[in-house]
Amino acid sequence: MSDNIETVKEKLRELRDKINYHNYMYYVKDSPELQDAQYDALYDSLLELEAQYPELVTPDSPTQKVGAEPVEEFGVVEHRIPMLSLGKVNTKEEFLDFHRKVTESLGLSVSAGVEYVAELKLDGLSVELVYENGILVQGSTRGDGYRGENVTHNIKTIRSIPLKLINDGNEPPSLIEIRGEVIYHKDDFEKLNAQREKAGESTFANPRNAAAGSLRQLDPKITANRPLDAFFYDIGTVEGLTLTTQWEKLQKISELGLKTVPERKLCYSIENVVGFFDRIEELRDDLSFEIDGVVVKVNNLDYQVSLGELSRSPRWAVAWKFSPEENKTLLENVIWQVGRTGAVTPVALLKPVRIAGVEVKRATLHNEDEVERKGIRIGDTVIVRRAGDVIPEVVKPLTELRTGEEIIIEVPTNCPVCGSELVRPEGEAIRRCPNVSCPAQVAESIIHFASKSGMDIEGLGPRQIIQMLEKNIIKDAADLYYLETSDLMFMERMGDKLAQNIIDAIKGSKNPTLSSLIYAIGIRNVGEHLAKVLATKFNSIQEIIDTPQEELEAIHEIGPIVAESIHHFFNEHHNTEMLDKLFKAGVTIKVEESSEEQKFAGLTFVLTGALEKFTRSEAKAEIEKRGGKVTSSVSKNTDYVVVGTDPGSKFDKAKALNVKTISEGEFVEMIKG
Ligand code: IVH
Repeated sequence: MSDNIETVKEKLRELRDKINYHNYMYYVKDSPELQDAQYDALYDSLLELEAQYPELVTPDSPTQKVGAEPVEEFGVVEHRIPMLSLGKVNTKEEFLDFHRKVTESLGLSVSAGVEYVAELKLDGLSVELVYENGILVQGSTRGDGYRGENVTHNIKTIRSIPLKLINDGNEPPSLIEIRGEVIYHKDDFEKLNAQREKAGESTFANPRNAAAGSLRQLDPKITANRPLDAFFYDIGTVEGLTLTTQWEKLQKISELGLKTVPERKLCYSIENVVGFFDRIEELRDDLSFEIDGVVVKVNNLDYQVSLGELSRSPRWAVAWKFSPEENKTLLENVIWQVGRTGAVTPVALLKPVRIAGVEVKRATLHNEDEVERKGIRIGDTVIVRRAGDVIPEVVKPLTELRTGEEIIIEVPTNCPVCGSELVRPEGEAIRRCPNVSCPAQVAESIIHFASKSGMDIEGLGPRQIIQMLEKNIIKDAADLYYLETSDLMFMERMGDKLAQNIIDAIKGSKNPTLSSLIYAIGIRNVGEHLAKVLATKFNSIQEIIDTPQEELEAIHEIGPIVAESIHHFFNEHHNTEMLDKLFKAGVTIKVEESSEEQKFAGLTFVLTGALEKFTRSEAKAEIEKRGGKVTSSVSKNTDYVVVGTDPGSKFDKAKALNVKTISEGEFVEMIKG
């Protein structure tokens, strides 16, 4: 009998090790080796065997990740070493000041090369895990830094947190405290809120609150249903292990089988740190989770000890926060801008203000209904927001700061450019100038025509186009193709060479793809994407003209509104006339666009490090334009990792997973090739 029990124990151990390994590959390494069904089969056989021998269930068994009983209230956990908070800096100057203090306290010169570890500052909930002899025995929140809440039952349900550390044949440390951040991924957060809204429940304000709300549940079954994730960045108390640098701590955490904060850099100079900060600020929106800055820590642990702590934060580390995406400023005036399709929209002229690292002077007010709804007045102090690549917008006025001098925004009844009476179609929030030869509309439509996503005429920007119109050298976009260098010599700041370049660029644009041409001619409601949709269905502009509206409507993604816009566009005489002139000038459509355009179809790319020729969003756009996909983390499903200068941990991961890495040069070749 005892023999038999030994065999069962052995079998259980084997199953648990296997499942733990596959959990690790799936949730930590993001590179599963088993099909779901194979994994389920393993898990079921463990469940079955444990049901037969309940006395043999151990706390590190993968079955113990779920199913613990609810607790009545959270117990209190005293942290052996206080969980400190961080001092903050907001600018490069303030960061340099931090560095100066570090070097001074260490008795070094400012130019001395102090090694720093720079990593993401995750916007989550900080926690501490305690492993004894390799087994997870406790998980707690930071609380006030000295005492937190015992959330062990919930921590255990987090997929990427192992119940048992990997020891690779070595004895695990008898005690180790590992600290990090529990987070909710942005897309999971959106899904959670959508579900809650549908169920009539209150929604969470942001991913951080969702993480906190999910972790602070009495019933672990609720937490288990929330896809929480966790990244770790520090080791507290540890027995049986000697570490000398912060970087080693990170490596150790990773070796033990936990996720470490992705994107980190061992910096040998201040320039390295600044470069890392700039790169991360640009990459911020591409990450699957929220961050609010970069944390910089002195690498050498002896230095950390000698620098010591202020009351609640260490002198050896600092949080360098991103400049906020919102700021307040004075709304000096509102102008009404006439767009390419005649839409007249309000634009706020602001007292210049820095937002998310950029100076902002103008912001959109969207439309008159928005102005009304937000109750904005000229002279108001307003909150302005700018996130990622989107156009800055006025969020709201701070009415408590009003002096009584503020002026109500008047909505124009006539076009501010040509004076035509504006029309506001029923059900629309926007007034339009009905005059198709309104100079503003003409200028905007030619600017759109020449833009990168349109005919891509390099060197022909708004300034040149407006001058050409003012000097009467052109009347519409097609006229561009009839220009000669001598025509341009009347323009300001024009020389032979510049004029020749512009003419060459115009000539060079004569062979667009069908989708670029469709986009360029500026049909209302037809943006880049729908232009591509139309280009896959038709072979020429004429075919589109010849297609009845009902047939257009039937095309997937087109629908009645767009079909009506297309129909309307080609019924306008000046549009067809312009197209005729365009084709007479020799504009022809480049064939075989689809195979060329979609050459990255089915391929997944990851970008790491700084690229020279592209910003991250440009590189992403180039890939997506060709049918490829960009993801933020490397997995076995990644096809290419494009490696720029100062690559992050994604580069190491790519090597570890044998994913193909390519340089920026090779990437450019692929695009061209
Ligand atoms: S280190 C003594 N590293 O930021 C060092 N903290 O403002 C203490 N945080 O309480 C923390 N990402 O919750 C560190 N990479 C990171 C972090 C990080 C986020 C949080 C942490 C801490 C707070 C301090």
